Amino acid sequence: MSSLNDIRSTFLDFYRRNGHEVVPSSPLVPRNDPTLMFVNSGMVQFKNLFTGVEKRDYTRATSAQKCVRAGGKHNDLDNVGYTARHHTFFEMLGNFSFGDYFKEQAIPYAWELLTREFGIDKDRLLVTVYHTDEQAADIWKKVAGLPDDRIIRIATNDNFWMMGPTGPCGPCTEIFYDHGDHIAGGPPGSPDEDGDRFIEIWNLVFMQNERYEDGSMSDLAMQSIDTGMGLERVGALLQGKHDNYDTDTMRALIEASAHATSQDPDGPGNVHHRVIADHLRSTSFLIADGVMPSSDGRGYVCVGLCGARCGTHICWVPKTR
Ligand code: ALA
Repeated sequence: MSSLNDIRSTFLDFYRRNGHEVVPSSPLVPRNDPTLMFVNSGMVQFKNLFTGVEKRDYTRATSAQKCVRAGGKHNDLDNVGYTARHHTFFEMLGNFSFGDYFKEQAIPYAWELLTREFGIDKDRLLVTVYHTDEQAADIWKKVAGLPDDRIIRIATNDNFWMMGPTGPCGPCTEIFYDHGDHIAGGPPGSPDEDGDRFIEIWNLVFMQNERYEDGSMSDLAMQSIDTGMGLERVGALLQGKHDNYDTDTMRALIEASAHATSQDPDGPGNVHHRVIADHLRSTSFLIADGVMPSSDGRGYVCVGLCGARCGTHICWVPKTR
C-alpha cells in the first residue's frame, strides 16, 4: 500500500523530472495578501507570478501545499466528518507553469502521472471542461482517448476557478474518479453530483484572466497553469478505500481520538472522531504557523476548530469567549 508520504513524493518527483522546481509549502497565513484569511490553494504563494508582478528564476514549479478551507470563498467546514472527502485542512499537490507550457502539455502530464505512475484504471476516470473550452475537450480525446460521454461540459463556476473575489483565474478541467455504483452519487453536472461516488481528484486551471473588485475581468499577459490534486483523495483511492478518513494518516488520528475517549472508532460517535481528526490537523498546523487562538479574525476560526464544533472534552485550548 502506498502511504500518503509515498504518494506525495511520487507526485513531486514526477514533476521534478519534468523540469519543475520543487518549492516548499508556504505557511498557512498568506504573506502580504489581505484578500485571504488562510492559504486555500497551492497557487496562492505564486499569485504574483501569474499576474507578472513578480519573476523568479524558474517558470515551472511543483509543491505540496498546506491548505485550510474554513471560511471565505472556499469553505468546506460544514461538510467535514459527514462526507468521505471534505477537510478543513488538507494538502494540495500541484504543478505550475508561469507563461511556460499551457493546456496542451498540462493535460498529458496529468494523464501520464495518474495512469502510469499511480497506475489508476483509465476506465474509472472522467473529466469535466468549461462548456466553451473545445480545445481542452479535444486534447482529452487525443491524449486519453476519452469518449464524449466521459468529457462533461459544465457551464457554471465549478469549471471557472477563482482564488477569491479578485485575482488570477481561468477556466478549468477537473478529473473525477468513479468509486463504483455501490456508492450513492451521480456524475458531475447531474442532480446527485454531491454524493461520494464520483470524486474530484484533480483540478487543472488554465490561468488566463484576472478579476477585479468591480467584477470585471481582463486577459492576463501570459497563459499559465495552476493545478491542485487533493492528497487525501488520491490517497484514498490508491489505498483501495473510498473514504479519505480511512487512509493511513487520518485513521491513526481517528483511533487516537477513540482511544482518548474510550469510544469505538466506528461506533455511533464516528462522525465526532472524524471531525476531531480533521480539526486536530487544522489547529495543529495553524498554531505551528503562528495563528494563536483569540477572539477575532484567524485566531477566532482557530478557537472554533479547537472545540466549539466537536463539543468534546479533549480540547486543550483555553476558550476566549
Ligand atoms: N487552484 C485550483 C484549486 O484550488 C487548482 O482547485
